[in-house]
Amino acid sequence: MIVLSRRQYAGEFTVPGDKSITHRAIMFNGIADGEARIENALLGEDCLSTAACMRALGADVRVEGGTVCVRGNVLRDASCDCGNSGTTMRLLMGLIAGQRVNATLTGDASLSQRPMERVAKPLRLLGADIATADGRAPVTVRAAKLTGREVDTAAASAQVKSALLLAALGAEGETFVHESVKTRDHTERMLAAMGADIRVLGNTVRVKKSALRAVDIEVPGDISSAAYFMALGALLGETLCKNVGVNPTRTGILAAFDQMGVQYTLENQRTVCGEPVADIRVKKSDLKGIRLTKEIMPSLIDELPIIAVLCAYAEGESVITGAEELRIKESDRIKTTAAMISELGGEIMPREDGFIIRGQRRLAGGTADSCLDHRIAMSAAVALAASERGGEIKNAECVNISFPGFFDMLDRS
Ligand code: S3P
Repeated sequence: MIVLSRRQYAGEFTVPGDKSITHRAIMFNGIADGEARIENALLGEDCLSTAACMRALGADVRVEGGTVCVRGNVLRDASCDCGNSGTTMRLLMGLIAGQRVNATLTGDASLSQRPMERVAKPLRLLGADIATADGRAPVTVRAAKLTGREVDTAAASAQVKSALLLAALGAEGETFVHESVKTRDHTERMLAAMGADIRVLGNTVRVKKSALRAVDIEVPGDISSAAYFMALGALLGETLCKNVGVNPTRTGILAAFDQMGVQYTLENQRTVCGEPVADIRVKKSDLKGIRLTKEIMPSLIDELPIIAVLCAYAEGESVITGAEELRIKESDRIKTTAAMISELGGEIMPREDGFIIRGQRRLAGGTADSCLDHRIAMSAAVALAASERGGEIKNAECVNISFPGFFDMLDRS
C-alpha cells in the first residue's frame, strides 16, 4: 500500500526508456546478424519478459547495468512465458511465424484473458499456422511457409501491424499492410535502420523478404511514463521531463494539452537513432474540459487514464469517445479508470467506448485500487498528489511493469 498526500511536486525528471522501443530493440536484434548494445533500455517487467523469451528462442541477451547486449541467432523451437506483456506475445507471434520455428506462448492471468485472434487471423492470411485457445493464450505457432500479400489490420493496433511486418520479413515476395488510422511506427523506423526492405506509403507499409543486421540503439525516455510528471506540472507546479521520445504517432497527449489549455514547451528538440526526442516543460495551468474522438486514440491510448485524471481537475465536462480499445488493455481501463476516479471523489460516467467526466477542479482523495494495472496505479498517484486530503493506493507494486522506481522518483520531486 502506498500513501500519498498533497504537496508541491516540481522539478526535473528523467523517466526510464520507452517500453515499445525497448521491446522492439531486443526482439529485432535477436534475429539480426551481429551484436548490438541497447542503451537506456527499460528494465521493467514487460521488457524483461521479452528478453527471457528471446533467450528461450536462442538469442544471446545479457543485461549489463542499464544496457542490454543482444547477439542475434537463428531461432530454435521454444516455450515462451510473456508474463503480463501483450506487446511481447503479439509481436512474437509474427516474428516467430516469419522465422519458421515452433513455439508456445503463455502469459499471466491478465494476458491470458486478452484477445489474440486479432493477430492470429491476419497472420494466417500470409500462411502462418497459429492456434489460440478460444481466441486467447496459450498460443501455438508451428513452422510454415509464408507468402506475401495485401492485408488490412482490422483493429487500429500497432501490435497487430508490427506482428504482420515481422512475419513479412520471412514471407516470399511482397507484403502490404494497410491500416485505417496510423498507429505508432517504431517498428517501421527500426526495421529500416536494420536494413530491411521496407517502405511506408501513407497508411500502407510494404515489406519484402529481408534479413536484418544488428544496430546499436539509444532508447529515448517513454512519453507514456513522462505523462505522469507532465500531469503533475499541469496540476501543481513546473516540471521538466528530459529526453522524452516525441514521435508524432505518440504525442496525442500534447494535442489533448492544447485543447485543455495546458502550458507546455518542447525544448532541445533532436533526433536520436531515427526517433524524435525533446525535453518537455509543463507549467501549472487552468484546465478546461476536452473532447477526444476515435482518430486521435492510437496516439494517446496508454495516456487516457492520466488524461481522465486531468479532466477531473478541469473546469467543465470532458467527453471521450472511440476508445473501446481501452477495454482490452492490462485491465478493462474504461471500468478501472472510472472506478479509480470515483473512489477519489470525481464524477465520471463510463460509456461503452469512453467516458464523460464532470470536471470539478478538485478531487477529495481516498483509497484507490490499481486493479493490478500499472497505468491505473500511476494515474491514481498523480490524482492523490493533487487531491485535498491525499490517500492510499492498493496493489501499487504493479508499477514495475513499465516504471520501476516510479514512487521513488515521485518522492524525490
Ligand atoms: C504498443 C501498442 C499499443 C499500446 C501498448 C504498446 C506497442 O497497443 O497500448 O502499450 O508497443 O506496439 P495496441 O497497438 O494494441 O493498441
